[in-house]
Amino acid sequence: MAFTFFFRDAQTLELAIDDALPAMRGRAFIHVWDAGCAHGPEPYTLAILLRERMADCVFNNLQIHATDIDSSFAPTVTGGVFGEQEVRRVPPQILKRYFRPTANPGFVEVVPELRARVTFSHHDMLSLRPIREGLSLIVCKNVLLHFEEAQRIEVLRMFHRALQPDGIVVMEHTQKLPDVLASSFQQIAPYAQVYRRVEPAFVEHQVEKDLPDRHGIRRVEVIRDESKCHCLDSRLVRQ
Ligand SMILES: C[S@@+](CC[C@H](N)C(=O)[O-])C[C@H]1O[C@@H](n2cnc3c(N)ncnc32)[C@H](O)[C@@H]1O
Repeated sequence: MAFTFFFRDAQTLELAIDDALPAMRGRAFIHVWDAGCAHGPEPYTLAILLRERMADCVFNNLQIHATDIDSSFAPTVTGGVFGEQEVRRVPPQILKRYFRPTANPGFVEVVPELRARVTFSHHDMLSLRPIREGLSLIVCKNVLLHFEEAQRIEVLRMFHRALQPDGIVVMEHTQKLPDVLASSFQQIAPYAQVYRRVEPAFVEHQVEKDLPDRHGIRRVEVIRDESKCHCLDSRLVRQ
């Protein structure tokens, strides 16, 4: 069983949610990805924090895609049944609102309203394939530290592609953003690893080719340089 617990680093999750909420409210479908969710405390913490901040009609548009490389977590995430020991850090009023006793003594069950919003699927982040695009929020905590630097960079590039233009990604506080991605994400608070997707600022060099055609149109090659990634483009310019 992976190490995780309900309301782990809740302040950082709240910060990320509060930043993502205004853009979420304007969407017909709201997609949140919890990448490396373990057996469920984190995606249900997200569901609770979002439920506390959303009107019914907005919450019903929410889908939390909880994924992990370990498929054995599927029954616990989808079933939403946890031992009482596991929920001991949940604030009492939240416990009362979102958990119910089960027939099995010593276990509680997440209310159906939250379970309906959380799905589990197997996913390996190192496949570098996002679960979908247009995500409002990606939570990836205490996973990237197990990857090599080059893998972390590629996973974060994959998150960038998967986020909606102003989408948010949140990591654990010991996980710094690699320098090469500084133009792709904007940190929203200096004390937390919460970042908003921004469009990378390309450095452009124009290489003029002296190839005017018979209409007096010349070809200009544009070299876009974003952190060692060179993309060649060409433009036609009228003389
Ligand atoms: C320490 S737990 C973190 C759980 C939760 N995110 C938290 O912060 O409390 C790390 C999780 O990452 C998962 N994991 C490790 N490598 C992964 C990969 N390549 N793709 C997806 N999940 C992975 C593990 O199976 C484990 O459940």
